Amino acid sequence: MDQNIQIHDKLFKLFIPSEYIQDEVQSIADKLMVDYADKNPIFLVVLNGAFMFAADLLKHYTDSCDITFTKLSSYVGTTSVGKVTKQMDILINVSNRHVIIVEDIVDTGLTIEALKLNLFELNPASVEICTLLFKPEAFKGTESPKYQGFVIPNKFVLGYGLDYDERGRNLKDLYQLKE
Ligand code: IMP
Repeated sequence: MDQNIQIHDKLFKLFIPSEYIQDEVQSIADKLMVDYADKNPIFLVVLNGAFMFAADLLKHYTDSCDITFTKLSSYVGTTSVGKVTKQMDILINVSNRHVIIVEDIVDTGLTIEALKLNLFELNPASVEICTLLFKPEAFKGTESPKYQGFVIPNKFVLGYGLDYDERGRNLKDLYQLKE
């Protein structure tokens, strides 16, 4: 397995190998299965980054559920531009339903805050965040995600759905920017 990879102008080093990711994804799904038993939740997957995490997670979530998607963006290159733009509406009725927002990473938290504000106007029964990665040092929100996979340092990461200028999403392992 390659320990270092070059994407565009930057060098990345192997950070979390696929086997560890898969174990963590399974354990998050196990918790969700317990907490949402008989609740028929809606999984709201935030594109593009969460596509791979969501696909793996939902294979392990074997109870009844709905799955839908939304698209937001706040990143250009390796930095957050601080303003969240909605690029796709939520195309399902969430009224009185339990919603689980599926994110690849919570960094500043601006994306999930914006999404939660949108959702609350639609009267869901509950809203929780499920993220594979959480960067607490960068987080500016008020409430940490309820379901977190890996708590990681404030360094840019890529792979397993996360990109650097649209490259690297297809990597099965996670990589971290090498400085
Ligand atoms: P936030 O709004 O700052 O929490 O950022 C959330 C979004 O920014 C994520 O859904 C990712 O798409 C992107 N993002 C944040 N940190 C990283 C990173 O380290 N690598 C790749 N994308 C990131």
